[in-house]
Amino acid sequence: MTDTGSSSPAAAPGCPAHPGAVRLGGLEYQQTPSQLYRTLRREHGAVAPVLLDGDVPAWLVLGYSEVGYVTAHDELFARDSRRWNQWENIPADWPLMPFVGYQPSVLFTEGAEHQRRAGVITQALEGVDQFELGRECEQIADELIASFAGSGHAELMSAFAHALPMRAAVQMCGMPHSGTDTQQLVDDLRISLDAAEGDDPVAAYGRVGARFQQLVKEKREKPGPDVTSRMLQHPAGLTDEEIIQDLISIIAAAQQPTANWICNTLRLLLTDERFALNVSGGRLSVGEALNEVLWLDTPTQNFIGRWAVRDTQLGGRQIRAGDCLVLGLAAANTDPQIWPEGHVGAENAAHLSFSNGEHRCPYPAPLLADVIARTAVEALLERLPDVVLDAEPHELTWRPSIWMRGLTSLPVRFTPVVQ
Ligand code: HEM
Repeated sequence: MTDTGSSSPAAAPGCPAHPGAVRLGGLEYQQTPSQLYRTLRREHGAVAPVLLDGDVPAWLVLGYSEVGYVTAHDELFARDSRRWNQWENIPADWPLMPFVGYQPSVLFTEGAEHQRRAGVITQALEGVDQFELGRECEQIADELIASFAGSGHAELMSAFAHALPMRAAVQMCGMPHSGTDTQQLVDDLRISLDAAEGDDPVAAYGRVGARFQQLVKEKREKPGPDVTSRMLQHPAGLTDEEIIQDLISIIAAAQQPTANWICNTLRLLLTDERFALNVSGGRLSVGEALNEVLWLDTPTQNFIGRWAVRDTQLGGRQIRAGDCLVLGLAAANTDPQIWPEGHVGAENAAHLSFSNGEHRCPYPAPLLADVIARTAVEALLERLPDVVLDAEPHELTWRPSIWMRGLTSLPVRFTPVVQ
């Protein structure tokens, strides 16, 4: 998601719903999230009035305990976006539509129906053997690295960090991780999730749906040890249409955040003096870097969202029925109330990077994401032991998105490896 709007924070004079609201599209992304969200929190409190693209009002929940409260009370703050009180102000081509437009997938279900759908996903993901997943990720990493190892330089975002989790997720769902057919699906998924100039995301999404329909048909006839087959065999009896929707949700939910987790961790390892110069000689481990990124540069900075079921109060704000709340996960992780000394981050996993409550990133997805990300980073450092940044650290730029935290590119160089 790319934001548009002015380049500096701006108030929205005269906005009746949100006097003094902050235009989210105009925030300064090139600084650390902790600084940005500390400023917002100081000026607006734990729940800030904000304007989304097209000046549509919403609330940005910035406090650790407030995000915890919202996500733990789905009877008050629920997922079905059809209850939004702003639909009459939203054009069909609104940039955030792919993320808030209702779809009959696990993401927008509530109550018993959500438990049914999420239960199937959890059980299907529990069947993934983590050692085997690690081995498959190593193989994917080797193939990707081999494609650029001889040249002595690479742009790791496109050549590695985005490609690896996409292929791992496709393979988890029961397709080979490479080959022409998979390549077409991987390309179409990339276009539907993250369209570039000139791409046609609607056509690509149509092809993704058709490919998953075919996959479901194949797995009904010939089940295998994969997520799709386990979803089909689950006693909850999901329809083919429900399974296709949820497979797309699983892959979409897995790809971008895991790719940015890999890239943000590599950036930290290559730029921070506790890790850098020679990573293998660094004092902190890859595991510590992965955890530090979840506290400080979490891939899903903000998540849209929840919709208020009825009028209520939150962080001293009057929330109206049907209001939209954006979960400020990066802000919550760096909330000065939980880090009064200024230092942010801990060795534990008490961050909210995987959200919280009923709709949180479903167990065991965070563990699988950890296997994918850790294997990717370790494989790269092992295969290219003298890899260094091919730019000054301050030249690296973040994608201009308030939703995802990831780099526009990560150029590196290393001694060419002769295959
Ligand atoms: C193997 C990789 C992953 C898989 C299969 C996966 C799967 C999912 C699924 C199916 C959901 C929807 C849950 C629901 O609505 O009930 C979800 C939500 C989410 N995931 Fe993941 N995910 C993965 C990796 C990640 C990573 C790396 C992050 C960030 C560090 C992340 C953060 C989130 C967040 C913030 C949500 C939204 C939760 C909410 O609505 O409160 N996920 N994930």
